[in-house]
Amino acid sequence: MKLFVENKASLNATDQDGLSPLHATASCTQVDLKDDYLRVAKLLVSKGADINLQMEGNCTALHIAACAGKKGEEMVKYLLENGADPTIESGIGFTALHYSINKEYGSGVSAEMIEKDLKKKYPHFFETFDRNKERKMAPSSAKSRLSEEEKRSVLPGGVNLRAIAERIKNGGSKRIVVLTGAGISVNAGIPDFRSPETGIYSQKRTQEFNASSFDLSSLVENPSGFYRFCKEIFLPSAVGRVKPTITHRFLGILASKGLLQRIYTQNVDTLERKAGIDADLLVESHGTFATGHCIKCRTDADMDKFWKSVDEDNLPLCQRCGSIQRPDVVFFGEALPPKFFDLRTKDMKNADLLIVIGTSLMVYPFAGLVNEVSEDCPRLLVNKKIVGPFTKYHQQNQHENYRDVICEGDCDEGILALVNFLGWENQL
Ligand SMILES: NC(=O)c1ccc[n+]([C@@H]2O[C@H](COP(=O)([O-])OP(=O)(O)OC[C@H]3O[C@@H](n4cnc5c(N)ncnc54)[C@H](O)[C@@H]3O)[C@@H](O)[C@H]2O)c1
Ligand SMILES: [Zn+2]
Repeated sequence: MKLFVENKASLNATDQDGLSPLHATASCTQVDLKDDYLRVAKLLVSKGADINLQMEGNCTALHIAACAGKKGEEMVKYLLENGADPTIESGIGFTALHYSINKEYGSGVSAEMIEKDLKKKYPHFFETFDRNKERKMAPSSAKSRLSEEEKRSVLPGGVNLRAIAERIKNGGSKRIVVLTGAGISVNAGIPDFRSPETGIYSQKRTQEFNASSFDLSSLVENPSGFYRFCKEIFLPSAVGRVKPTITHRFLGILASKGLLQRIYTQNVDTLERKAGIDADLLVESHGTFATGHCIKCRTDADMDKFWKSVDEDNLPLCQRCGSIQRPDVVFFGEALPPKFFDLRTKDMKNADLLIVIGTSLMVYPFAGLVNEVSEDCPRLLVNKKIVGPFTKYHQQNQHENYRDVICEGDCDEGILALVNFLGWENQL
């Protein structure tokens, strides 16, 4: 076991049934292997297993534990305490709470824990939660519902970037959904979180800034530290000293051609707005530095004054009551904007191409979106590293892949290659 967990690649890999080691461990609760399974789960998570990884059928370890009745209660508790996201829906549209309230295989105690977590961390989601939701018709099995012929027609030109461009040119993709993350702004000089040398979470950087900087308590307890961090990382883009990248401009072209269903960005740097993308087409899933408000009386901040103060190393203070102001970013533990939950299901269902750019797909519920498009929707990853469900086809299982195109490397270079295939070079 020790040897196995030292090999990072295998931690989030899945077997033929789509089970990761953590899923398999959660399944053990159903057959009762004393307390060992909890110890194994703790070891896996401490070594970097993704607690919210979705297997085939979109289930997470929390779904599995929620189906294990009384035996699963301890596992449910552990997973929730360690960041399991109870808003993630399985292939039939059920959250872990739906499973845990089932009389046959659920558990009242698990249901109570999950409900409490949902209420606290995702109040908007909880308000609209439908206990009596019908199962979606999709089978929960790992097998695809598409015939071989249907699979081949997704990307008839082959599973590659040129075929994606052909599909766009032929009108096969005109409701494109784009998921973006910090990687698309790295070429604009804004560091991401998880790149090894330069990321905000890298060793060098965490000494410079406290890693918990996206935390409301770090703003309240150490406002000057928080705003020093904001000045260095986010002020340049917010005040227009930093320009959108090639990737941002490409998204602007998609929007202007009417090919965009939506962009879901995790970025707070406002560069999508600066690339001219309409507010209607944009879901700033983790909020934005474009607006802010007073933490006490909630009065909107005048952002010119806000950034002027930050630039001059003064704290931005409310004009009305003198309390400190905060940006409208989603801090750790805060709910995502209602718009995210309102549009998510419809957008993902309607998507006829999913493009994922510059994200590690580590932050949930955002990362779950990639699994919500239909089976006949091609997915393109443009990223320095192969992440999320795309890892499945790396090296193995390639023969089963009919729709996941990977463009590994710098995103601007990948996007330029796509633009060339599209013949849009002159429009960039
Ligand atoms: N620009 C921003 O607004 C910004 C910056 C840092 C963090 N954040 C916040 O931090 C969280 C981090 O999650 P995340 O997934 O967005 O970032 P992340 O740091 O976890 O992952 C970034 C991903 O982008 C890749 N990448 C880096 N440079 C790239 C390049 N030039 N071309 C292609 N790929 C590149 C990395 O390999 C990595 O996989 C988000 O919630 C976001 O709100 C935002
Ligand atoms: Zn105020």
